[in-house]
Amino acid sequence: MTTETATDQTTEQPRGLDADPVISVRDLETHFFTDEGVVRAVDGVNFDVHPGTTMGIVGESGCGKSITAKSILQIVEAPGRIVNGEIQYRRQSGEAVNLLDYPANSGRMRAIRGGEISMIFQEPMTSFSSLHTFGNQIDEALKLHTNLSKDERFELAVDWLARVGIPNPSQRMHEYPFRFSGGQLQRAMIAMAMCTNPKVLIADEPTTALDVTTQAQILDLLQRMQEENDMAIVFITHDLGVIAEIADEVTVMYLGKVVESGPVNDFFDAPLHPYSRALLTSIPSMFTGSRERLPSISGSIPHPQNRPSGCAFHPRCQSFINGVCDIREPNLVSVNEEQDVSCFLYED
Ligand SMILES: Nc1ncnc2c1ncn2[C@@H]1O[C@H](COP(=O)(O)OP(=O)(O)OP(=O)(O)O)[C@@H](O)[C@H]1O
Ligand SMILES: [Mg+2]
Repeated sequence: MTTETATDQTTEQPRGLDADPVISVRDLETHFFTDEGVVRAVDGVNFDVHPGTTMGIVGESGCGKSITAKSILQIVEAPGRIVNGEIQYRRQSGEAVNLLDYPANSGRMRAIRGGEISMIFQEPMTSFSSLHTFGNQIDEALKLHTNLSKDERFELAVDWLARVGIPNPSQRMHEYPFRFSGGQLQRAMIAMAMCTNPKVLIADEPTTALDVTTQAQILDLLQRMQEENDMAIVFITHDLGVIAEIADEVTVMYLGKVVESGPVNDFFDAPLHPYSRALLTSIPSMFTGSRERLPSISGSIPHPQNRPSGCAFHPRCQSFINGVCDIREPNLVSVNEEQDVSCFLYED
């Protein structure tokens, strides 16, 4: 959204992609220790998110997008555990901290989670308690993260419900989440995530349960909030059309690893990784009829427990180099000032 590299005229501070990252994920590894073995759901992930910009994370189902997001907030459920890495976060005060230095249940982590960094979950139903009214739940968040009075909190919550397009918001405050439809729950969750005025919003498929018109309204709302508050957004989606619309940068994941990252225009105009290219050719063209079948990427996604040797994408890759890609693992390297890729086609 804020791809321009302009500098703030009053303070001369770099802005957008030129500003220091607000979140830097480094060598993140999150594994699930199951009876059947270890699932390396997140297997050495790196990316930066800059204030006032949107980082899109894309990749097929199961590649580790949600677990990466949950790792940032330290809410990975057992038997999952973060086993390595750093999550550098630049606080509102300017202080830089590694979030993984804070125990998941510590007061410090709770002060950041849901306040400075908030998340819209992929499954809205599981993120609400069925025992409390929606009003109670949003009030808890506001109590923890703001100094507002009870009346002010109620007013703000109602205001947010109205902003995300929920009719009769004051009445809905007294209702239990099961009374909300899927689309309303998703909107209610967006209201809850936004009401604390977060510095970083992690949005995991935030508009999947919504019709296209509502989806467009929500994207618009997120973009306005981003402009007003210089909020950074991590936007996880399967929908490359949404990425084209709202992302400044893109990180492509495959089987727990980042295979490519860079500015959104480069991703669409000059994708580097054979997997990125395959994803892009699977988008329906504006000119294909809606009934036409989408070409999909050949081969199926391997289970993380049966990770192929070498580059995990090699069994499906059109540019596979025998004796190289099936033997060695490529590293994520910079190919130019902006784009990083993990592929032997680009290694010397
Ligand atoms: N509780 C769990 N136990 C074992 N493995 C798990 C668990 N939760 C997630 N995983 C594994 O971690 C991997 C990454 O899952 P994740 O939910 O991050 O995928 P995703 O990219 O968000 O997929 P989707 O697009 O379907 O939401 C998957 O292979 C999944 O099977
Ligand atoms: Mg997911």
